[in-house]
Amino acid sequence: MKTIIVENYQKLSAYAAEQIIKEVDGTDHAVLGLATGSTPVGTYEYLRNFPERFKGVTTFNLDEYIGLDKKDTNSYWTFMKEQLFNHVPFQENNIPDGNADDLKAECHRYEAQIRNSGGIDLQILGLGNNGHIGFNEPDTSFDSRTHVVDLSETTRQANARFFQSIDHVPTKAITMGIHTIMESKRILLLVSGKGKSDAVERLLNGRMTEDFPASILHHHPDVTVVIDQERVAGKF
Ligand code: F6R
Repeated sequence: MKTIIVENYQKLSAYAAEQIIKEVDGTDHAVLGLATGSTPVGTYEYLRNFPERFKGVTTFNLDEYIGLDKKDTNSYWTFMKEQLFNHVPFQENNIPDGNADDLKAECHRYEAQIRNSGGIDLQILGLGNNGHIGFNEPDTSFDSRTHVVDLSETTRQANARFFQSIDHVPTKAITMGIHTIMESKRILLLVSGKGKSDAVERLLNGRMTEDFPASILHHHPDVTVVIDQERVAGKF
């Protein structure tokens, strides 16, 4: 695992965007795995300046809430449209359907779709305060594939800032599994935000345990962790 510490959020965003552009340049077909949340917003802003680079690119998002309409202001579909998809003409954008009648079938369909696309070349991840990646909460099996999850209280509280109140935050989501994420050829884990210094400490120095999902990344052959020193501000 390669670790890069950058001075601030702007540098993190520029670094991540440059890695993404490097990944898609010179290929007529690339597959990106994308994340939502606050961390990649600056990266997506940067990418909006290069719309012509993404014409042959397919994307798969990590996760989606269950029970929110696609058009709800808090759905990840709306988030991705506003941040990126409305501005950059990709070949194809995929997000799990959190309103599917048969959620189990939807999970299988999503896995198959990723496989049929040839697999994810570069997966962007953010880090949850509790070590989650995607919505894989502590104690999710490292063997998991796309599945339905109950969101932890910590995660619902962390995400409540986008909703009217915590009561409006969904209790379930669909997420790519940890095994699904680990099958990506390359992974870029972006870490920014207050309250994450303990998680970073544990990621860099802790042991591998399902109790801390991001710890599995030590076993991936090509992971880069980028840490925004100003916003994370810890002793790691
Ligand atoms: C989002 C996702 C989550 C976030 C994580 C960090 O699609 O899968 O794992 O990456 O919760 O969120 P932020 O960036 O808001 O701190």
